[in-house]
Amino acid sequence: MSLQKVTVKDIIEKKKKGEKIVTITSYDYSMAKIVDESGIDLILVGDSLSMVMLGYKNTLSVTMDEMIHHTKAVSRGVSNALLVGDMPFLSYKIDSNEAVKNAGRFIQEGGAEAVKVEGGTEICSTIKAMIKADIQVMGHIGLTPQAIYEFGGFLVQGKTIEAAKKLILDAKNLEEAGVFSIVLESIPWQIAKLITSSIDIPTIGIGAGSYCDGQILVIHDMLGIFTEFKPKFVKYFGNIGKSIRRALDDYRDEVLNGIYPDREHSYEFPQQDLNKISQWIEKIDICEEAHKIL
Ligand code: KIV
Repeated sequence: MSLQKVTVKDIIEKKKKGEKIVTITSYDYSMAKIVDESGIDLILVGDSLSMVMLGYKNTLSVTMDEMIHHTKAVSRGVSNALLVGDMPFLSYKIDSNEAVKNAGRFIQEGGAEAVKVEGGTEICSTIKAMIKADIQVMGHIGLTPQAIYEFGGFLVQGKTIEAAKKLILDAKNLEEAGVFSIVLESIPWQIAKLITSSIDIPTIGIGAGSYCDGQILVIHDMLGIFTEFKPKFVKYFGNIGKSIRRALDDYRDEVLNGIYPDREHSYEFPQQDLNKISQWIEKIDICEEAHKIL
């Protein structure tokens, strides 16, 4: 497949053309390279790496330095997809200057082309400051995992008339602030459909139904690698976790039984030279020779 570099403009254009936008997370070089080669439009180095890569219980623990470390690795594997870095907890809500500096680190050090932030109307002034500094920004509303303690857990959002109205206003204000797209997470599909039709920038859904302009999933969820819990919207498109376990069982059994490594996976030394070494060994005092080398 011959692929072209995807830009922020292309992502916006896709909505205008009625083309679906396919996006996914990645956290390391090798996986990002496979994802990039598969023609995915946008790769997010999500703060979900806190859980799926680093083993923390939620996304609040991952730091700026950890996010930059993983973004750098991903950027080395990406040539085509638009690369977005996810700003972690407390990196953009304390003050706007700090937010712009941290967003800039994703671009300058991490090699990302844009950043994503969680929140609605309350962070629009910060988003404007980032855009003023020439940093492209993606929004994220609905179930924003950095606010789970406020929500009381990983709960579906926008379920009441008031909550749904707030989501629609937030989306409008984010668009006005200049974001190039908005992630809608864990909200009823009808509300996602309303939001999608009331703004000109693309919506990217995760647990927000089929009427969004695009979709995103955490790669470790959809491949069946991270199985500690499975939200309703997660579909397993593969079961890599099972394949890894099966491969490790085979490896262990083959090593224990002397089957691996076989000749096919070993390096060869010429037989005639080997005979010479054997004769040499018989003649010399190995300890004395070893001392000479030392
Ligand atoms: O952190 C993440 O992976 C995300 C996506 C699921 C949208 O924010």
